[in-house]
Amino acid sequence: MYDGGKIILGIAVFLAFATFPFYSNMGRTVPKAEPKIDTPVIQQMEEKECVEPKEFMRAEHMKLLNEWRDSALRDARRVYVSSRGKRYDISLQNTCMKCHSNKSKFCDECHGYAAVKPYCWDCHFVKEEARDEH
Ligand code: HEC
Ligand code: HEC
Ligand code: HEC
Repeated sequence: MYDGGKIILGIAVFLAFATFPFYSNMGRTVPKAEPKIDTPVIQQMEEKECVEPKEFMRAEHMKLLNEWRDSALRDARRVYVSSRGKRYDISLQNTCMKCHSNKSKFCDECHGYAAVKPYCWDCHFVKEEARDEH
């Protein structure tokens, strides 16, 4: 004969202690990345939208940048027509970084969090104002 209730309570107490360090970390020691979009160019936009929808950009911007590079360098195509039918010059510096001129508060904000370091800035120019972290 044993007391099932006490065992369950014991397990619950054990789990609470065993997992405490994990859930007490959530949202505190590892702050969530908060990329800022309050740049002068974006502030002036009527509809604050990226070249493609936000969810797509968040997940696929690396691939899009690769496509842009291939398109510009291999095919000499320097105009991108977005899924909404808008046209953009294919340029990391003059298009992406014109809107996202706050590289450290935008690109680096997420990349630091995700621990990725794109090597693009070895060659591609970033304006002084935006270069305080690299
Ligand atoms: C015309 C201005 C403009 C251009 C050009 C532009 N962006 Fe954006 N971008 C924005 C705005 C505004 C948002 C926020 C969109 C929203 O909240 O719906 C955004 C969102 C994003 C996001 C998602 C951020 C998040 O919080 O999830 C990424 C990533 C991004 N842009 C990368 C890029 C890259 C890479 C390029 C060049 C290929 C680029 N953007 C070009 C204005 C621009
Ligand atoms: C919403 C967060 C977020 C923002 C904002 C963001 N990135 Fe990223 N970026 C990521 C993540 C996460 C990865 C890694 C994805 C992976 O490995 O699958 C990444 C990867 C990349 C890569 C590929 C690097 C590699 O080594 O694979 C490039 C290039 C890149 N980002 C460029 C940019 C540029 C340029 C900007 C600013 C205009 C930007 N990103 C803004 C989250 C972001
Ligand atoms: C070794 C130097 C170097 C590195 C590193 C580099 N690029 Fe480039 N990239 C170039 C050169 C040179 C061009 C051609 C410029 C031109 O013809 O306009 C170019 C062109 C591009 C273009 C198309 C045109 C333009 O001006 O933006 C894109 C987009 C691009 N690169 C994205 C990237 C991304 C994203 C990364 C990082 C993952 C990267 N590049 C890393 C040298 C480099």
